[in-house]
Amino acid sequence: MNHIAIFASGTGSNAKKIIEHFQSNPSIKVSLLVSNKATAPVLEMAQSFGIDQHVIDRHSFYETEEILTVFEKYEIDFIVLAGFLWLIPTYLVESFTKRMVNIHPALLPKFGGKGMYGKYVHRAVKEAGEKESGITIHFVNENYDEGDIIFQASCDISPEDSPEEIGKKVLQLEHRFFATVIENILVSQN
Ligand code: GAR
Repeated sequence: MNHIAIFASGTGSNAKKIIEHFQSNPSIKVSLLVSNKATAPVLEMAQSFGIDQHVIDRHSFYETEEILTVFEKYEIDFIVLAGFLWLIPTYLVESFTKRMVNIHPALLPKFGGKGMYGKYVHRAVKEAGEKESGITIHFVNENYDEGDIIFQASCDISPEDSPEEIGKKVLQLEHRFFATVIENILVSQN
Protein backbone atom coordinates (compact mmCIF):
# COMPACT_ATOMS: atom_id res chain seq x y z
CA MET A 1 0.00 0.00 0.00
CA ASN A 2 1.27 3.49 -0.92
CA HIS A 3 0.33 6.35 1.37
CA ILE A 4 0.43 9.82 -0.21
CA ALA A 5 0.71 13.15 1.58
CA ILE A 6 -0.48 16.10 -0.47
CA PHE A 7 0.99 19.52 0.35
CA ALA A 8 -1.30 22.36 -0.70
CA SER A 9 -2.04 25.88 0.43
CA GLY A 10 -4.64 27.27 -1.92
CA THR A 11 -7.94 26.29 -3.43
CA GLY A 12 -6.94 22.69 -3.76
CA SER A 13 -8.57 21.87 -7.07
CA ASN A 14 -5.64 19.61 -7.98
CA ALA A 15 -5.67 18.02 -4.54
CA LYS A 16 -9.38 17.28 -5.00
CA LYS A 17 -8.80 15.61 -8.38
CA ILE A 18 -6.04 13.47 -6.92
CA ILE A 19 -8.14 12.47 -3.91
CA GLU A 20 -11.03 11.51 -6.19
CA HIS A 21 -8.76 9.63 -8.55
CA PHE A 22 -7.38 7.36 -5.82
CA GLN A 23 -10.59 6.97 -3.81
CA SER A 24 -11.33 3.52 -5.18
CA ASN A 25 -7.73 2.40 -5.64
CA PRO A 26 -6.97 -0.62 -3.44
CA SER A 27 -3.22 0.05 -3.22
CA ILE A 28 -2.79 3.84 -3.33
CA LYS A 29 -4.32 6.09 -0.72
CA VAL A 30 -4.19 9.83 -0.04
CA SER A 31 -3.65 9.64 3.70
CA LEU A 32 -2.73 13.17 4.72
CA LEU A 33 -3.16 16.77 3.64
CA VAL A 34 -0.40 19.14 4.74
CA SER A 35 -0.79 22.91 4.58
CA ASN A 36 1.06 25.95 5.82
CA LYS A 37 -2.20 27.92 6.01
CA ALA A 38 -4.75 27.05 8.66
CA THR A 39 -7.42 28.94 6.69
CA ALA A 40 -6.71 27.47 3.24
CA PRO A 41 -9.89 26.26 1.46
CA VAL A 42 -8.06 23.04 0.59
CA LEU A 43 -8.31 21.98 4.25
CA GLU A 44 -12.09 22.12 4.22
CA MET A 45 -12.18 20.19 0.97
CA ALA A 46 -9.92 17.46 2.39
CA GLN A 47 -12.06 17.29 5.51
CA SER A 48 -15.12 16.63 3.39
CA PHE A 49 -13.34 13.52 2.09
CA GLY A 50 -12.41 12.48 5.62
CA ILE A 51 -8.70 13.05 5.06
CA ASP A 52 -6.56 13.93 8.06
CA GLN A 53 -4.73 17.22 8.06
CA HIS A 54 -1.54 18.65 9.41
CA VAL A 55 -0.79 22.38 9.50
CA ILE A 56 2.86 23.37 9.57
CA ASP A 57 4.54 26.60 10.59
CA ARG A 58 7.90 27.92 9.47
CA HIS A 59 9.68 27.01 12.69
CA SER A 60 8.55 23.39 12.80
CA PHE A 61 9.12 22.90 9.08
CA TYR A 62 12.57 24.45 8.76
CA GLU A 63 14.06 24.11 12.25
CA THR A 64 12.79 20.66 13.25
CA GLU A 65 12.08 17.34 11.52
CA GLU A 66 8.75 16.97 13.33
CA ILE A 67 6.88 16.25 10.11
CA LEU A 68 8.83 13.02 9.62
CA THR A 69 7.30 11.74 12.86
CA VAL A 70 3.84 12.64 11.57
CA PHE A 71 4.64 10.81 8.33
CA GLU A 72 5.62 7.69 10.27
CA LYS A 73 2.19 7.59 11.87
CA TYR A 74 0.51 7.68 8.45
CA GLU A 75 3.17 5.52 6.75
CA ILE A 76 3.67 8.24 4.13
CA ASP A 77 5.93 7.09 1.31
CA PHE A 78 5.14 9.64 -1.40
CA ILE A 79 4.65 13.41 -1.37
CA VAL A 80 2.72 15.48 -3.90
CA LEU A 81 3.10 19.25 -3.99
CA ALA A 82 -0.09 20.68 -5.46
CA GLY A 83 0.02 24.44 -5.06
CA PHE A 84 2.52 24.51 -2.21
CA LEU A 85 4.86 27.48 -2.33
CA TRP A 86 7.46 26.98 0.40
CA LEU A 87 10.90 25.70 -0.49
CA ILE A 88 11.35 22.09 0.65
CA PRO A 89 14.10 21.71 3.29
CA THR A 90 17.05 19.40 2.67
CA TYR A 91 16.07 16.78 5.29
CA LEU A 92 12.77 16.25 3.50
CA VAL A 93 14.27 16.22 0.00
CA GLU A 94 16.77 13.59 1.17
CA SER A 95 14.13 11.45 2.85
CA PHE A 96 11.94 11.46 -0.28
CA THR A 97 14.37 11.23 -3.19
CA LYS A 98 12.36 10.36 -6.32
CA ARG A 99 9.33 10.10 -4.04
CA MET A 100 8.25 13.76 -4.09
CA VAL A 101 6.73 15.51 -7.10
CA ASN A 102 5.57 19.03 -7.84
CA ILE A 103 3.33 20.46 -10.51
CA HIS A 104 4.27 23.76 -12.11
CA PRO A 105 1.85 25.73 -14.31
CA ALA A 106 4.27 26.39 -17.19
CA LEU A 107 6.75 24.61 -19.42
CA LEU A 108 9.90 24.50 -17.30
CA PRO A 109 12.74 25.45 -17.42
CA LYS A 110 11.02 28.64 -18.58
CA PHE A 111 8.96 30.64 -16.06
CA GLY A 112 10.11 28.85 -12.92
CA GLY A 113 11.89 29.86 -9.73
CA LYS A 114 11.09 31.79 -6.58
CA GLY A 115 7.98 33.95 -6.84
CA MET A 116 6.87 32.20 -10.01
CA TYR A 117 3.52 30.75 -9.05
CA GLY A 118 -0.09 30.96 -10.13
CA LYS A 119 -1.03 34.22 -11.80
CA TYR A 120 2.55 35.51 -11.81
CA VAL A 121 3.53 32.65 -14.10
CA HIS A 122 0.68 33.28 -16.53
CA ARG A 123 1.39 37.03 -16.58
CA ALA A 124 5.03 36.35 -17.42
CA VAL A 125 4.05 33.92 -20.18
CA LYS A 126 1.71 36.54 -21.65
CA GLU A 127 4.32 39.30 -21.43
CA ALA A 128 6.88 37.11 -23.16
CA GLY A 129 4.47 36.66 -26.09
CA GLU A 130 4.65 32.85 -25.89
CA LYS A 131 2.60 30.84 -28.37
CA GLU A 132 2.17 27.97 -25.96
CA SER A 133 2.19 27.21 -22.27
CA GLY A 134 1.48 24.06 -20.31
CA ILE A 135 2.33 22.02 -17.25
CA THR A 136 5.45 20.41 -15.86
CA ILE A 137 5.45 17.59 -13.33
CA HIS A 138 8.90 17.09 -11.84
CA PHE A 139 10.72 15.50 -8.94
CA VAL A 140 11.53 17.92 -6.15
CA ASN A 141 15.02 18.95 -5.11
CA GLU A 142 16.34 21.78 -2.89
CA ASN A 143 15.75 24.46 -5.51
CA TYR A 144 12.48 25.87 -6.76
CA ASP A 145 11.25 24.09 -9.91
CA GLU A 146 14.57 22.44 -10.77
CA GLY A 147 14.20 18.70 -10.19
CA ASP A 148 14.15 16.15 -13.00
CA ILE A 149 11.20 16.57 -15.32
CA ILE A 150 8.83 13.60 -15.47
CA PHE A 151 6.03 14.87 -17.70
CA GLN A 152 4.99 17.92 -19.69
CA ALA A 153 1.86 18.76 -21.66
CA SER A 154 1.28 21.93 -23.62
CA CYS A 155 -1.59 24.06 -24.86
CA ASP A 156 -1.74 26.71 -27.55
CA ILE A 157 -2.27 30.28 -26.49
CA SER A 158 -3.43 33.04 -28.75
CA PRO A 159 -2.35 36.69 -28.58
CA GLU A 160 -5.84 37.58 -27.31
CA ASP A 161 -5.67 35.26 -24.30
CA SER A 162 -5.47 37.12 -21.01
CA PRO A 163 -3.31 35.70 -18.19
CA GLU A 164 -6.57 34.42 -16.61
CA GLU A 165 -7.48 32.59 -19.82
CA ILE A 166 -4.02 31.08 -20.04
CA GLY A 167 -4.43 30.00 -16.43
CA LYS A 168 -7.70 28.25 -17.21
CA LYS A 169 -6.19 26.29 -20.09
CA VAL A 170 -3.23 25.27 -17.96
CA LEU A 171 -5.42 24.23 -15.02
CA GLN A 172 -7.42 21.98 -17.35
CA LEU A 173 -4.21 20.18 -18.28
CA GLU A 174 -3.29 19.84 -14.61
CA HIS A 175 -6.65 18.27 -13.81
CA ARG A 176 -6.42 15.96 -16.79
CA PHE A 177 -2.93 14.59 -16.22
CA PHE A 178 -1.60 15.02 -12.66
CA ALA A 179 -3.27 12.09 -10.91
CA THR A 180 -2.52 9.66 -13.73
CA VAL A 181 1.14 10.67 -13.81
CA ILE A 182 1.36 10.11 -10.04
CA GLU A 183 -0.24 6.70 -10.43
CA ASN A 184 2.20 5.75 -13.20
CA ILE A 185 5.20 6.74 -11.08
CA LEU A 186 3.96 4.71 -8.12
CA VAL A 187 3.17 1.67 -10.23
CA SER A 188 6.59 1.81 -11.89
CA GLN A 189 8.34 2.08 -8.51
CA ASN A 190 6.57 -0.86 -6.94
C1 GAR B 1 -1.74 25.12 -9.68
O1 GAR B 1 -1.97 25.76 -10.89
C2 GAR B 1 -0.27 24.78 -9.55
O2 GAR B 1 0.33 24.47 -10.77
C3 GAR B 1 0.29 26.05 -8.99
O3 GAR B 1 -0.66 26.45 -8.03
C4 GAR B 1 -1.96 26.10 -8.51
C5 GAR B 1 -2.75 25.49 -7.38
O4 GAR B 1 -4.09 25.38 -7.76
N1 GAR B 1 1.58 25.85 -8.41
C6 GAR B 1 2.58 26.72 -8.57
O5 GAR B 1 2.46 27.80 -9.15
C7 GAR B 1 3.90 26.30 -7.95
N2 GAR B 1 4.96 27.13 -8.39
P1 GAR B 1 -5.11 24.50 -6.92
O6 GAR B 1 -4.99 24.94 -5.47
O7 GAR B 1 -6.44 24.82 -7.49
O8 GAR B 1 -4.73 23.07 -7.10
